[in-house]
Amino acid sequence: MVNYKQVGEAFNKIDESKVKKLSEKVLNTIKNKDGLGNDFLGWLDYASNLKNERTTLEDIKKTAKRIREEVDVLVVIGIGGSYLGARAAIEAINGLYSQDKFEVLYLGNTLSSTYTAQVLNYLKDKKFAINVISKSGTTTEPAIAFRLCKDLLIKQVGKQKANELIIATTDKQKGALKTEADAESYHTYVIPDDVGGRYSVLTPVGLFPMACANIDIEEFIDGFVEGEKEYSCLDLEKNPAYKYGLTRFLLHTQMKYTSEMFISYEPHMNMINEWLKQLFGESEGKQGKALFPTSCVFTTDLHSMGQFIQEGSHVLFETIIKPKNVKLDLTILKEKEDLDGLNYLAGKNLSYVNDQAYLGTLKAHTEGGVPANILEIEDLSSKSIGNLFYFFMRACAFSAYMLEINPFDQPGVEIYKKNMFKLLGKPEKR
Ligand code: PA5
Repeated sequence: MVNYKQVGEAFNKIDESKVKKLSEKVLNTIKNKDGLGNDFLGWLDYASNLKNERTTLEDIKKTAKRIREEVDVLVVIGIGGSYLGARAAIEAINGLYSQDKFEVLYLGNTLSSTYTAQVLNYLKDKKFAINVISKSGTTTEPAIAFRLCKDLLIKQVGKQKANELIIATTDKQKGALKTEADAESYHTYVIPDDVGGRYSVLTPVGLFPMACANIDIEEFIDGFVEGEKEYSCLDLEKNPAYKYGLTRFLLHTQMKYTSEMFISYEPHMNMINEWLKQLFGESEGKQGKALFPTSCVFTTDLHSMGQFIQEGSHVLFETIIKPKNVKLDLTILKEKEDLDGLNYLAGKNLSYVNDQAYLGTLKAHTEGGVPANILEIEDLSSKSIGNLFYFFMRACAFSAYMLEINPFDQPGVEIYKKNMFKLLGKPEKR
């Protein structure tokens, strides 16, 4: 379970009693599944259903094993909710320089020609497979990347073998990707109708790339299953997800903070920050409302953003995700000459130094007027990450409903697409 703590004066000033009625209503809305966008609440108990059903999990593990045996690289093609969760989990769990020889690369999350060309060049002499992920099956970025990457794969191994090395994760019946997957007999996974993109990391969207990265997806799902019990409790004091969701709402509406900064002290958690920015930004940023989600990785960004956070305009509070245990550690050596003056740290672990930086920064920022939510987790194991994702999904649904916003749509995203399609001359309907 995520252990939630609050540090800073602002927490003493917020008044939960003023929103008691509304928060009780929201608690029941989620429980009874009768709020805005309630046809997108499939993620609430998807994990336990998946665990009981078994077929999908077994198939994912079997197919991932085949792919790991046949090729050296998996190219995950997707954008937004069809990519961020898998990458966030893989990087947090395996680290950025894992010793696993099997590589996972990402395409279709940009229209950058240079990035796309460089990834395709890199793949030219590699044995690779493709997992193309798109719920709508029509998103431009992954569709273009897939067309280009598929062409390379066919040139390398021929059409028949290429079709065996393409795994499509998409809607069960509609969309261009589904049509192509059926026509070409790609191995296919279904994104359920009632799970939206940014809530889909626990479906094959996240699970298949993770299994290919040799991550224990059973444990990942166990983290969600545990979360289903831990974060559904209607007593706010016993439910850290709802308590955090309510607090961030009150910091915004009563204390007038306009931004929430997600912080970690591990660079391999950077994509978790990106996943969080999408989860909260796309779920809540509607009708001129909501906190602006931003992020930093410390201590790296203390050397760029630290000054602003400490002494700039007081627009933000921090939400720090702190694993109690690290995966790998190093001990600082003693040097005879001590020319760099570091012998005072000799014998200490690097993680110890990182922890003191965390404590020192927490004191500086909170005393400087930047309150901090602290979310302590055991470690960055697949189970803890699964549990953390579910914690945030529940918290996000809760605080979006407090703002009287539908957490599960994204109407604003369509506007740029409309303009872009007009400029590109896309035909109205195919
Ligand atoms: O959360 C969302 O719904 C979005 O970020 C989508 O995941 C993203 O736009 C990609 O859509 P699709 O999976 O349809 O290609």
